Formats: sequence, structure tokens, C-alpha cells
Amino acid sequence: MNSLYRSVSQTRRIHTDCALLKEIPRNLKNKKHSSQLWLTRQMRDPYVEKAKQENYRCRSAFKLLEINERFKIFRPGLTVIDCGAAPGSWTQVATNLTNAHGKKEGSIGKVYAVDKLPFYPVEGATILGNMDFTTAETQKALKELLEGSTADVVLSDMAPNASGVREMDHDNIMLLAYAALRFALQITKVQGTLIVKIWDGGKAPQFEQDLLKFYDSVKVVRPDATRDESTENFLLARGFKGLKTS
Ligand SMILES: C[S@@+](CC[C@H](N)C(=O)[O-])C[C@H]1O[C@@H](n2cnc3c(N)ncnc32)[C@H](O)[C@@H]1O
Repeated sequence: MNSLYRSVSQTRRIHTDCALLKEIPRNLKNKKHSSQLWLTRQMRDPYVEKAKQENYRCRSAFKLLEINERFKIFRPGLTVIDCGAAPGSWTQVATNLTNAHGKKEGSIGKVYAVDKLPFYPVEGATILGNMDFTTAETQKALKELLEGSTADVVLSDMAPNASGVREMDHDNIMLLAYAALRFALQITKVQGTLIVKIWDGGKAPQFEQDLLKFYDSVKVVRPDATRDESTENFLLARGFKGLKTS
């Protein structure tokens, strides 16, 4: 096994949507058929090329950029929690659009990015790598970082390792989606926003209904950058109603 094959196949297992090819493989002949398909798809994918050119860590950046373009979610000064953030392209987008890095004029935002995998720092963001978002310990750490204040936007691009068994994968991502919702309910500002990735399946309609109990509007969004064969959708819930305390 040559080194290119090894590095690409390892990356793929971790982030199917997030591996950027650094060089075009010249010889696909000795690769497994599935690897050939994946490499060919990466080479032909305009978002992979664009991510490289614009210095995003993965092509997923363009999904959030498109959602923002259409629905105007971010502005300088906002506080954002980014769940399932590695390798960090959504964190890059959020940091830039909220001015968390302080490179632009105007208000300075805050971005807290968490993932169960370790990942490299993003300038202006607070990174919580190696931390499982679903644990009480991680959520306590995030609340401490907020120092009693609230978040304007909660993002969840969290995804379990896909087994290929569609129903099981759907159930697992829904557990993560509900974990993000439960946390968002505790720390989101009234009128705040939640964006959650799900994979289509039987529990999606109920999740949409549950979101509507707490948010004024819920939209199902499928950005252009989502791959045709993917079952992913993003639920955009806006206008958090707040929790009744009495
Ligand atoms: C599609 S990737 C996220 C890509 C990221 N939004 C970006 O743009 O770079 C999904 C991520 O969810 C993370 N994840 C899955 N389960 C998690 C959990 N329980 N806690 C934290 N992160 C989790 C994975 O480790 C993976 O990095």
C-alpha cells in the first residue's frame, strides 16, 4: 500500500465530506474499486477545489455559507456554539461572519467549537477538541465558557460514523440532533437560531414537530453543496421562544 492511498483512505473514514485532496493521484489502478470511486468523485468535485482555493478545511464550509447567504443568520458580535466542529470549516465560517477574530471593524463575536475528535485551532474561536458533546462534562464546560450569558446561534453538523445501515445511522444521528436541541433550549437567547444536520428517516418529521414547539419557524434546507447521493438535510429553526420558568 503506498503512502497516498494510506493517508486518503484514513482521512475518508474520519470525514467523508471533509477530506481535501492535496494532490491528484496519478495511478488509480491498484486501488480498491470503492477508493477509485471516491478519489474520482473528489477530483471532479468543484467544492473540493474551491475549499482549497479559499483555505477552508473542508467543502462543508459552502453548506453553511449558502445557508447564511439565503437566511442571513450571522452578523458581527453574535455568540455561536458549533457542535461537531472538526476539522473546523464551519468554525472558520462562523468566526469570520461574527468577527470573532476581531479582524474587521465593529462588534466582536464569540465562537465555541466542540468535537469528540481533536482538531487544530481556528483563530478567534475557542476550541474544545477531544470532547463528546453529549456528556454532562462537555455541556458544563460550554456553559462555564458562556459565563451566564446566552448564545445567538447553535450549530450541529454532528454525525456518527456511518455504518451503511440506513435506519441505524438515522437513529444515531437523531440522538445527536436531540442532544443539540436539548442543549440549545438551555443556553439560547430568545429569538435565537438552531441549525441541525440530520439524515433522512422515520424520526425526521417528529423532530421537525418538536422544533416547532420551541421555535417560531422551522425550515428544511438542502444546500447545493450537499452531495446528490447524501440523505442529509439541515433543519433551520429560528425565533427561539424561550422556556417558561414558572
Ligand atoms: C461532518 S463532520 C463536521 C464537519 C464540520 N462542521 C466542518 O465543517 O469542518 C461531523 C463531526 O461530528 C463529530 N461528532 C460526532 N459525534 C459527536 C459527539 N458525540 N460529540 C462531538 N462531536 C461529535 C465527528 O467527530 C465529526 O467531526
